[in-house]
Amino acid sequence: MNKIAVVGSLNIDLVAVTDVSPKMGETVIGKDFSMYPGGKGANQAVAGARLGGDIEIFGTIGDDQHGHMLERQLKNDRVSTFSLQKRSDVPTGCALIEICNAHNRIIVVPGANGKTDEAYLKSSMNAILNADVILLSMEIPLPSIEYLVEELYEHNKTIVLNPAPAVHLCEELISKVTYLLPNEYEAEIIFGGTLSEDAALKRYPNKLLITKGEKGVTFFNGEEIETIPSIIVNPVDTTGAGDTFAGAFSYAISDGLPVKEAIRFAAIAAGLSVEKKGAQSGMPTLAECNEYRKKVSDDEA
Ligand code: RIB
Repeated sequence: MNKIAVVGSLNIDLVAVTDVSPKMGETVIGKDFSMYPGGKGANQAVAGARLGGDIEIFGTIGDDQHGHMLERQLKNDRVSTFSLQKRSDVPTGCALIEICNAHNRIIVVPGANGKTDEAYLKSSMNAILNADVILLSMEIPLPSIEYLVEELYEHNKTIVLNPAPAVHLCEELISKVTYLLPNEYEAEIIFGGTLSEDAALKRYPNKLLITKGEKGVTFFNGEEIETIPSIIVNPVDTTGAGDTFAGAFSYAISDGLPVKEAIRFAAIAAGLSVEKKGAQSGMPTLAECNEYRKKVSDDEA
């Protein structure tokens, strides 16, 4: 089994469930509140580990109660936290999440994630380079991403970039990553104004995979634009579905699956993940994904 390094954020998620989303200046009464482990990096690491991946996480937590809880949770899921940076001068990152009709709005306050800087990455580089596949997301400083992509490209690594939250990315950076996994809103921020979706897909065959929630995942296979459908589920909370896709896709690629098969597999994992509350709670194991695949093929027979 190939090793995967996940470099990204770790947050504590403060989640309020409501039937009505408040307008600006309005107060509404919610129905439920919970705290969950989250952060795109941590979620992606857990998604890969639940499937059986050999995962190490790189990122920063505060030396506080939330940070300790996140570290414990990662260890429970068999994610290596050996290289995690713990800082006493900043609090652990935090995300305020509103869930309304299973869909979410998120505000992230990065806190300690802002310390996942070039100095920390340099000191962790040997450990990062131990991995074959490196999965990156963008709740850490952009210069850190730029520095890492440069280094990893020099070392011929497979680089999976989930550009969330999206910012404009320069062409040189995109050319150096192996797979770019934005959702449709992020794709619009990255390419909108310069390229249509079809033109962007065609420019990056088998590299740009645009995730579209229940509408599936679209990519250009070199001959035509294809959409791999999502599975049909009863969504409870879609938080972390994109992270599950990124973690599962990286796992599948590290296991040698071709792109299309890796997308199919990751779409199943992401679909199953939305059936429980919290970003990580619903992330499936490999056995659960296989059980789903078997059920579908039995139903089709
Ligand atoms: O992608 C979902 C994640 O985004 C949440 O867990 C939250 O922490 C934010 O990082």
